[in-house]
Amino acid sequence: MTRFKISCQNRGMDSNSYFKVRINTLMPGQPTTFDLHLKVADQVILYLRAGDRLDQEKIRALESRDSGHHFLVKEADRRSYKNYVHNQMISTNLNVREKAVVLRESSMTLVEELFENPDVNKALDASRPVIKDFVEFMKAEPEAMSHLISLSGHDFYTYNHSLDVSIYSLGLGESLALNKIELEELGIAALLHDIGKRHISLDILCKKGPLNDAEWSQMQKHPQYGLTILNDYQNVSDAVKAACFEHHESWVGNGYPQQISGQEIHPFARIVAITDTYDAMTTQRSYNVPLTPVDAVTTMKEKIAGRYDPDMLKAMYSVLFKLKGAA
Ligand SMILES: [Fe+2]
Ligand SMILES: [Fe+2]
Repeated sequence: MTRFKISCQNRGMDSNSYFKVRINTLMPGQPTTFDLHLKVADQVILYLRAGDRLDQEKIRALESRDSGHHFLVKEADRRSYKNYVHNQMISTNLNVREKAVVLRESSMTLVEELFENPDVNKALDASRPVIKDFVEFMKAEPEAMSHLISLSGHDFYTYNHSLDVSIYSLGLGESLALNKIELEELGIAALLHDIGKRHISLDILCKKGPLNDAEWSQMQKHPQYGLTILNDYQNVSDAVKAACFEHHESWVGNGYPQQISGQEIHPFARIVAITDTYDAMTTQRSYNVPLTPVDAVTTMKEKIAGRYDPDMLKAMYSVLFKLKGAA
């Protein structure tokens, strides 16, 4: 599968009247129900009309181009695209892995919007149905989580990171016996945990290599920035805000920003603390070698165990051992 890289330089590139659609959410040979556009030399051109088919050859040709990772679809066709994705999710022609690809890739565009769109409210409203889709997929297909996790990113970008932390958190939440409503709330909390990074400069976010002290202290403000952003919206629950504000707290009390400890830390924040670190450890960044899933959890258990809720860390271990080829 082609892995999509979201360039740090791409923020805000596309006009608000279009949204991005990843090529591998489109089924070759099937007519689309919306026009597909491409951005070429800063011009948006119509590539395929609604009702036409995208064949495998065209897909391959597009994927070999730099701009070939996504199409642009008009905002007015958003519902139509969502229905198209939904139909694939309930189709009997796709296997679980193919559905996992469609769901993850189609959700990436939403996560990009969470970080790029100035209208946070719109992005927040859009996040709930996406998380519901993930929870439903998990409930319908016992293998769903294992496929979703195996597709999760090896390139570290904030967008991939947020979606992957959300997916891992749903897996961990399920093993902690959270109910469907709690899982949906947890999924949103995890998706938004780093939303405060909207206020961190791209120079810091995209820096290749470790941060210096000044940059690090800027970076450590993102939980506070996130809470400030979320406080402006009425439909955000306290649990979601807590996960955002407390996900860098540590079980033994030496985290940030409040240095609270143990049960004082909201359970969602304790879950995200684990899945967040796990994702960072297993993801390729410019200056690190990613650990295998089992090595990452073992490191968390043996070297930095004091940071995490021990029962939750044990549960994370069991989630990952369920995965094929995790070791
Ligand atoms: Fe964070
Ligand atoms: Fe994070």
